[in-house]
Amino acid sequence: MGKRDRNLVSDLVFGMLRCWEGLVKTTGEETPGLVHLNAYVQTLGHEPLAFRDDSFEKVAPLQSLFTVNDEQNKRGKDQFGDNWDSLLETFAERSEVFLKFRNAAELELFQEVLEELDIKGEVLPSGKGMKLNPDDGGKVRSLIKEQKFPIEVQDYSCQQVIDFLPNIEGKKVWDVCAGNGGKTLDLASHVGGGQLIASDISESKLIELQRRVTAWTYQGIQTRLLSKNISQTAIDASFDLVYLDVPCSGSGTWRRSPWLKMWEAEVIEDVMETQQELLQHFAKSVKQGGKLAYSTCSIWKEENQEQIQTFLKENPLFQLEEEHQLLPEKGKGDGFYFCLLSKT
Ligand SMILES: C[S@@+](CC[C@H](N)C(=O)[O-])C[C@H]1O[C@@H](n2cnc3c(N)ncnc32)[C@H](O)[C@@H]1O
Repeated sequence: MGKRDRNLVSDLVFGMLRCWEGLVKTTGEETPGLVHLNAYVQTLGHEPLAFRDDSFEKVAPLQSLFTVNDEQNKRGKDQFGDNWDSLLETFAERSEVFLKFRNAAELELFQEVLEELDIKGEVLPSGKGMKLNPDDGGKVRSLIKEQKFPIEVQDYSCQQVIDFLPNIEGKKVWDVCAGNGGKTLDLASHVGGGQLIASDISESKLIELQRRVTAWTYQGIQTRLLSKNISQTAIDASFDLVYLDVPCSGSGTWRRSPWLKMWEAEVIEDVMETQQELLQHFAKSVKQGGKLAYSTCSIWKEENQEQIQTFLKENPLFQLEEEHQLLPEKGKGDGFYFCLLSKT
């Protein structure tokens, strides 16, 4: 299969996943099959597939090209009211590709490479990030590999975290859920002579984190593999900043990962339990006068504001300093929640 065909198949599969619940209603079929493809192409306004003889009463125009199950629909309407339908429309679109650079000079070098190929990139307000058209994504990813300096593909909302955080220069910082280090790189570039610990329960992610940190030529970052049993991690209240970029439903990233909307409610409930346990346990490692930061890539208040309210009720030494709820938006990043608490 050639590259064009692969792109076509991927567009079709992603497109069908985006409006899956609508296709099930239209066809009356829950088991994935060609019947859904036939309904999908007709929904887009094309002729029925020549080799299929499915006959639908009428291909129902999908309410939106992004559909969710009834429970999520209710939750969305309850939480976002009249804005819910326009949020669903946003989820139907492909998101732009966002890049992150070590510095403005390297961004400019890459811009020259793009200009030679007539690819347009828009520089983000930070001066160290760039936005590109989704159609250029494949080409740009290949170009990144050919450069002598590191470039990360990272959503714009995630790139803004460093602006929400307090000054960490010379401070002792713990990035508890560091994963493969997307945001650790930003912490590392701001921590100056301080101390940065990056931890996770996944060894393979920490190996990838170490590879990235080395590629970005940052030194002195300690990695720590944690037990899945949260209460087993020893705590001492010595950190100026503890950052919890917790596991979540990923509902803010549905444009890029539409399959996440199919997560079972019980899985999300388990994740929410972990979020509260992480908050309660790792908050103990914040020193007096220190800060606790919490973020998710979810749009649901149950994983965001409500988790923080529950935490604050049980931890009166902490106060909410600031909160940012970013919703997915055309030309901007994914849905993201960030809040900063301080400890007296
Ligand atoms: C949202 S991801 C982190 C993304 C990462 N900070 C980044 O910027 O790329 C959440 C991470 O939490 C980790 N995690 C899950 N349970 C954990 C726990 N009990 N302690 C620490 N990390 C945990 C997961 O392995 C996952 O890598």
